[in-house]
Amino acid sequence: MKRNIVLRAFSFDFPNDLNPKWNTNNPVFAHFFNGVSLTMPYLEPYLCRTNDEARKLIQDPELLHDIKQFNGQEYRHHECHKRLNVLLNKNGYPEFKEIEDKIRYSYQKLSGRSLPVKLAYSAGFETMTQGFTKWLLGKRTKLFKNACPYISSFWLMHMIEEAEHKTVAFDVYMACSGSYFTRALGVFHGSFHVLGYSFAGMLAAMKKDGLLWTLKGQLGIASLVGSIIWNIGPYFLNALLPWHDPRNSKDPQWFSEWVEAYPPCDPQKQPLVDTSDPLMPIPF
Ligand SMILES: [Fe+2]
Ligand SMILES: [Fe+2]
Repeated sequence: MKRNIVLRAFSFDFPNDLNPKWNTNNPVFAHFFNGVSLTMPYLEPYLCRTNDEARKLIQDPELLHDIKQFNGQEYRHHECHKRLNVLLNKNGYPEFKEIEDKIRYSYQKLSGRSLPVKLAYSAGFETMTQGFTKWLLGKRTKLFKNACPYISSFWLMHMIEEAEHKTVAFDVYMACSGSYFTRALGVFHGSFHVLGYSFAGMLAAMKKDGLLWTLKGQLGIASLVGSIIWNIGPYFLNALLPWHDPRNSKDPQWFSEWVEAYPPCDPQKQPLVDTSDPLMPIPF
């Protein structure tokens, strides 16, 4: 069945005094996802720009519609990440500015590559997000337990929409190129580029906190890396198969419940997940 990609108000009222260490149970996890957030205001507009370039080569009206919806979702995501990153910077980590400058420059450089390389990067990155979606939604009760409801809800809703538009970047690549070798390189390129900057953000914050060279910090990093390999690794390997198609990956249960129940009473106001609830049900 054809999936409907819905444009929703994607807006969370982050409090001005938002604590960048929003998950006191697992500060390494919080710092890692803050690092991921640093890349988003550059990555997500890049995905939209690349799709706009590809649009001129595509005739299929359904795919053109999917691109429009995909770009609408990614554009809203990046605006929210931008607001979050300002708060992270202001509330403790001005050193993120230097990392963001490097990220901005790297996306400028990437924008000069050929269209197939750029689309393969997009498709590769989007494949990796499916592993993150399964991990974050499936283990939400452990990962976000008693964490800041704004950031937790923000990440969980972001992952919902990533699952919803999971086929688009792949379909655009297949419509414009389809070469296996370039796509396989894109899986490495799109995944490790974003992960690399995310880790750079995390390490800078841990260093600032004096957490980096402590036993707790090192064990936290080891546990995070292990979780990423365990949860994202299978999606990464699957994407390298010549017959890979993202529509074959199963959606998490929480995703289906969330999408079916949407919209909440007031679709402009995003309801927050109750992170103190042991089951963390959908918030509407
Ligand atoms: Fe996104
Ligand atoms: Fe996406």
